[in-house]
This record gives sequence, C-alpha cells and structure tokens, in this order.
Amino acid sequence: DGDPRVPRINAAIRIVPDFPKPGILFRDVTTLLLDHQAFKDSIDIFVERYKEQKIDVVAGIEARGFIFGPPVALAIGAKFVPMRKPRKLPGEVVSEEYTLEYGTDRIEMHVGAVQPGERALIIDDLIATERVGAQVVECACVIGLSDLKGQEKLGGRPLFILVECE
Ligand code: ADE
Repeated sequence: DGDPRVPRINAAIRIVPDFPKPGILFRDVTTLLLDHQAFKDSIDIFVERYKEQKIDVVAGIEARGFIFGPPVALAIGAKFVPMRKPRKLPGEVVSEEYTLEYGTDRIEMHVGAVQPGERALIIDDLIATERVGAQVVECACVIGLSDLKGQEKLGGRPLFILVECE
C-alpha cells in the first residue's frame, strides 16, 4: 500500500517542541539530511513521480525548498528557479505575500525565470501555503501538517506529500 521508504524518512525528521515559539511542534529536516539513505529516498520518490511529466521548471521556496528542489530538477531535466525572501534577488521581481503557521512573509522570483506555458513543480520541505503563475503541475512537500489545511490555500493545485503529520 504505502511506499516502504516513507517510514524511514518520517523517522529521520526530528520534532522540536516549542520552536521557534511556545506551542509550535517544529519538524526539523536537518536530521533527515544526516541520514543518507532517507535523504536519497526522499529525492528518489519525487524524481520517480515527476520524471515523465515534462516538467520545465522546479521552483524551490527559500530556504528549505533550496535543499530538496535542485537535486530533483537535475534528475528530471528541469531548470531550477529560487523563490526568495524579500530584497534578495537583484533583478526585477514578481512578489507574493503568504501566511505561515507563525506569521506572514513574502516571496519573490525573477521576472522572466519562468515563461508562459511552462510546466512548473513547486517544492518545499513543508506545506503551509504558496502561489505562482505559469502552469503549476503540482506542489510537492516532504512534510504535510494536516491541521494547517495548507492544501486549501493552493487554489485547487494538486499537492503531493511524502510524510503526513498530525
Ligand atoms: N513551518 C511552519 N510550521 C512548521 C513546523 N511545525 N515545523 C517546521 N517548519 C514549519
């Protein structure tokens, strides 16, 4: 039924209570990166899912989308576009505000990095929220927090989650 690689990925994610503030159960993916097999399995699962989907662009959201996005982009033959925190990108940007489990923020990407009609995959470590133009084929996350209802904020875009958490 489920992918046999997922339990190990799940087990490799450290849970830190009350970080960065009281009441938050923080899912720390740095411990997943320390487990070579679990890290490789998480990338492989994304690659297997998207390699035949004619994806033109993998967009990764700063900062943890920069960890999981590029290896997937290289393996499926897509370009990688960083979606960054405000005022980091030197060129002309398109900007979008979004809400987090703990606060609101804004991400920016370079105008021209994605062309009309391209097929995009958005990758982050954890689903909370986001939005972009172009044709978003799917949004992919390592971790899904069920109580945050992140999928409802994706405007009907499909969402793929490796590890579902309470
Ligand atoms: N980003 C938003 N909520 C989070 C959580 N619980 N753990 C890690 N990153 C997060």
